[in-house]
Amino acid sequence: MEKKLFAGNWKMFQNVESAQIFVRRLRSLLQEGKLPLAKAEFVILPQAPLLSVFAETARASASSGFAWGPQNLYWEADGAFTGELSPRLAQEFGSTFALAGHSERRQFFGESDASAAKRALAALHFGMTPIFCVGENLAERDGGRLAAVLERQCQALLELAPTMPKRFVVAYEPVWAIGTGRTASASQAEEAHLVIRRIFSAAWGEERARTLEILYGGSVKPQNARELLSCPNVDGVLVGGASLDADNFFNIAVQAFQC
Ligand code: PGA
Repeated sequence: MEKKLFAGNWKMFQNVESAQIFVRRLRSLLQEGKLPLAKAEFVILPQAPLLSVFAETARASASSGFAWGPQNLYWEADGAFTGELSPRLAQEFGSTFALAGHSERRQFFGESDASAAKRALAALHFGMTPIFCVGENLAERDGGRLAAVLERQCQALLELAPTMPKRFVVAYEPVWAIGTGRTASASQAEEAHLVIRRIFSAAWGEERARTLEILYGGSVKPQNARELLSCPNVDGVLVGGASLDADNFFNIAVQAFQC
C-alpha cells in the first residue's frame, strides 16, 4: 500500500496542556510541507477526556491534518455501563478512529477476543474506523503458536463481520515488544502480517483483503521505522511511547519516507 498510517497510542499519558502543545506542534510540522501528505495519514488515540482538545482544534481550523479517536469504547450507545465510553459520545468529539482490543486491555482488564471484536464492530457502526489489535505473548511465540493465536483473535472478529467493511485496520502488536524496547524484526513483522492478511483473505476475499491496512506496533521509534515500513505488508505503525512528543512522532514518518 502506497499510503502509510501513523497511529499514536498515548495510553494513560498526557494532560490538557501537553495535549494542546502537541496538537499545535504537529499541525505546524504538517504545514511545513516536509512530508508527502498524500502518503502519510496521522491519528492520535488519547485518553477519552482529551478528545475535547482535538475537537476544539477542529472547531478552530478547517483542517488539522490528522485524525483522532478513543483507546476503547463500548458497544452500546448509552445505558447503565459505569466506566465505559459511549461510541456516540466519542463521535460527538469528532473521533473517526477507535482502538479495540489493545493487549493492555486484554492483559489487565479482562478483554476477551469476543468483547474486543464487539468494540471494533461498534466503532464501525458509529462511523469510526476500528484499529483492531492482535498479537501473541512471548510464551505463545516460543511455543510456536503465533499463527494459532492470530487465527483465534481474528476469527472472533470475522464471526461478527463476515464481509469487509469500507475501511478496516488491524494492528499486529506482539506483546513481548510493547514498551520493552525490543522490536520485532522486519521479517518477524512481515511474517505475522502475512498470516493476518491470509486469514482475512480467506473470509473477505483476496481482492478486498488487499485493502486491509495492517499496522505494526511494539517499540516503534524513528530509528526502526524505515525498515519496518519497507515491508510490503506493513501498512503503517501503532506507536506508544514514541508518539508522546510531536517531533518524535512526526520524525517516525519522516524517517519512513526518508525525507
Ligand atoms: P510502545 O507501545 O510503542 O510503547 O511499545 C505500542 C502500543 O502499545 O500500542
